[in-house]
Amino acid sequence: MEVEGLHYTYRDGTEALRGLSLSIPRGSRVAIMGPNGAGKSTFLLHLNGLYLPQKGRVQVLGREVNARTARELRSLVGLVFQDPDDQVFSPTVYEDVAFGPLNMGLPPEEVAGRVKEALLAVGMWDHRERHPSRLSYGQKKRVAIAGVLAMGPEIIALDEPMAYLDPQGKEALLEILGRLHARGVTILVATHDVDMAAAWADHVIIMKEGRVLARGEPSLLAREDLVREAGLGLPLVTRIFCALPELELPFLPYTCEQAVRVLREKLLADKNAGHAGIG
Ligand SMILES: Nc1ncnc2c1ncn2[C@@H]1O[C@H](COP(=O)(O)OP(=O)(O)OP(=O)(O)O)[C@@H](O)[C@H]1O
Ligand SMILES: [Mg+2]
Repeated sequence: MEVEGLHYTYRDGTEALRGLSLSIPRGSRVAIMGPNGAGKSTFLLHLNGLYLPQKGRVQVLGREVNARTARELRSLVGLVFQDPDDQVFSPTVYEDVAFGPLNMGLPPEEVAGRVKEALLAVGMWDHRERHPSRLSYGQKKRVAIAGVLAMGPEIIALDEPMAYLDPQGKEALLEILGRLHARGVTILVATHDVDMAAAWADHVIIMKEGRVLARGEPSLLAREDLVREAGLGLPLVTRIFCALPELELPFLPYTCEQAVRVLREKLLADKNAGHAGIG
């Protein structure tokens, strides 16, 4: 995915993107972060041609995003909108999830298999006959995710997927994303959840005012100056270690795994030092 000098201004004159440039290698797990109004959603809407670049260019899977490629891109790039009310509209949950694969021209048996698999994955199979508008917000979000999974896209972009999910729903989604990643799917998640981004992403892109403020490994999220400028907070793990300078760690952990590792090493070193003292 290559984005170069992308600009997008809404009809009321709001400049949402002001020269956004970035590149994302295939198979990555990317967290797109940044304050409200930074342009994250506007950017994601370009990836499958729902929005077309007004200035600059977007290349996805070797294709230029334009009016000609938009249709093809819609099946290659699955987009889960920030607001599920913009996405879930069929008379039943089942039909809603079947809509994408049917539109791709897949045979009915194949569609049936994909819909069942996707609804089971998000825990909504038992709700398949229900009207989407009657579902809770988190349930709608799950259905929207299932709709994208059923299309089997090469890239999946999820806009604030965790926002309304309960903890088990989040856990299940992380598992789904893990399986997609193992299959080589490129995954983008726009999120304000620094803990999730720190633990899950291999690339972090921080946007501000329609441009990239910073990008790199998730260790970026342990940089207080940057995090503050981006309207974010430090990951919880990092905050704990910031409050413990006496540990004299060479770096600030930002995931639970790192925290456990450094603490275990520290404990072991202290224990050995204790034994040496007695000896
Ligand atoms: N339909 C619209 N019409 C006019 N302005 C819009 C529209 N949608 C978004 N904007 C504006 O474009 C800018 C970028 O919005 P966008 O939704 O892309 O930000 P975001 O980073 O996704 O924010 P959030 O974290 O709140 O989801 C904001 O100033 C917003 O007010
Ligand atoms: Mg948004």
